[in-house]
Amino acid sequence: MTVSTPSPLTSDADWWRSAVVYQVYVRSFADSNGDGIGDLNGIRERLPYLRDLGVDALWLTPFYTSPMVDGGYDVADYRDVDPMFGTLGDFEAMVTEAHALGLRIIVDIVPNHTSDRHPWFTAALAAGPGSAERARYLFADGKGENGEQPPNDWESIFGGPAWTRLPDGQWYLHLFDPAQPDLNWRHPEVRAEFEDILRFWLDRGVDGFRIDVAHGMIKAEGLPDVGFNSMTTGRRQSELLGKGRLPYFDQDEVHDIYRSWRPILDSYPGGRMAVAEAWAETPQRLARYIGPDELHQAFSFDFLDATWSTDSFRKVIDTALAEATIVGAPTTWVLSNHDRQRHVTRYGDGEVGLRRARAAALLMLALPGCAYLYQGEELGLPEVLDLPDELRQDPAFLRTGESRDGCRVPIPWSGELAPYGFGPAGSELSWLPAPATWRALSVAAQTDEPGSTLELYRAALRIRRTHPALAVLGGITWLESDPGVLAFRRAARDAALTCVVNIGETPVMVAGYGEPVVASAALTEQDGAHLLPVDAAAWFTRHTG
Ligand code: BGC
Ligand code: MG
Repeated sequence: MTVSTPSPLTSDADWWRSAVVYQVYVRSFADSNGDGIGDLNGIRERLPYLRDLGVDALWLTPFYTSPMVDGGYDVADYRDVDPMFGTLGDFEAMVTEAHALGLRIIVDIVPNHTSDRHPWFTAALAAGPGSAERARYLFADGKGENGEQPPNDWESIFGGPAWTRLPDGQWYLHLFDPAQPDLNWRHPEVRAEFEDILRFWLDRGVDGFRIDVAHGMIKAEGLPDVGFNSMTTGRRQSELLGKGRLPYFDQDEVHDIYRSWRPILDSYPGGRMAVAEAWAETPQRLARYIGPDELHQAFSFDFLDATWSTDSFRKVIDTALAEATIVGAPTTWVLSNHDRQRHVTRYGDGEVGLRRARAAALLMLALPGCAYLYQGEELGLPEVLDLPDELRQDPAFLRTGESRDGCRVPIPWSGELAPYGFGPAGSELSWLPAPATWRALSVAAQTDEPGSTLELYRAALRIRRTHPALAVLGGITWLESDPGVLAFRRAARDAALTCVVNIGETPVMVAGYGEPVVASAALTEQDGAHLLPVDAAAWFTRHTG
């Protein structure tokens, strides 16, 4: 691994507007102590890799004390590190070392629900119906003669009813797993607690927060039925997510919470930011989470649902850029994350999927705004589709048969045998097994390998950092192109960069945009023009001044 001179953090408070953020799924990134589980010291060891890759910031999924029912999105202590991942001291050392390398740190905050092992919830169970302890959560009596039916028809995102009944007869709400009880955000103690948690991590130098289920904290008064549920329609309520109104999501009052968080972020120096994982019915409603008195960003998730077609990509890009104009903040782009099938597989898997994923990376990284990469996409990792059921750990798997484990398989770093350098030398453990095909995809196998996906990402990120046309915030200009081809230009005063993506069925001749600076597949030159193969993208630049 090359170690170059550390670059200090820039003082730019608006760094997040055009940043490339690398999502670290902590459990699966790098294991320093050989227990088969990724940890904070594993991240520390790999910081030079991330700096050399050319990203600006890391987003770490939850590493807090947790019984790990939902991979740490069930937090039992918001102010400590789970021993599985290390210590608070390791975290502090990681922040210092990351900052010295010019990398910022974003942590995940999970305010919608706690773990059922959180001291507040255990106290609530012990204290009984009607107690002050229960008021911090959403406990309710059931319907029916003896309260034997749930208080309403809400369904868990992970499948099944969103209510669980206790032996004392009361029910409690959990929009996710029963081990993730929802907090009552109308309770002042809940609000005060999370403001304090934000300060706790800001005091430790974090540069931002990713807010989990940011649209979920406030539930409609009276907890009204949805009226659309698996019982009445045979279709899951979660199908309405992001498409229709749900009484437990995107309630107007949720914005009061963010209006109280923003001054806290702004009171710290250096541009501390927050990005919402929010789902709303319309772009206009999603836009309400963003602004000078609320949050800095909300993920634009539409790429996750886009298919490999010019229409689909154009629609996603135009919608996201229009949203960005509404709120006056650049958009965020996401091709993959820890909750979705990896895009190599979504685009067709195997050779074809990989070719398309590489092209999609050049498409995304040429767009204005902030790009979120998910660990392993720079290696072209596919979804692992054949994990044995008994190894799957996603709580949704038991309830719905759908599992997110296939995108959470530990990263291959080096070597001939699984888990490919995930742990220290000689360690054979990894909490999920890596497939044999990943030997050729490891970081070591791809480093300095011309044409590898890793070198493609490195090259694209280097150009993204240095090319004047990509440094400019603002829009893109769509160029006329053959059917099946997307072409757009970014322009600075004296330079232009054109991104051309061939989604069609035949190679296309590209001429007039200047010299190719990076391509996802080999180009052939013919009479001053370049032939761009199928399922490929390239960037061309020229001076215009
Ligand atoms: C996270 C998931 C998690 C859920 C519940 C999500 O949006 O990204 O991984 O299961 O919130 O906390
Ligand atoms: Mg470990």
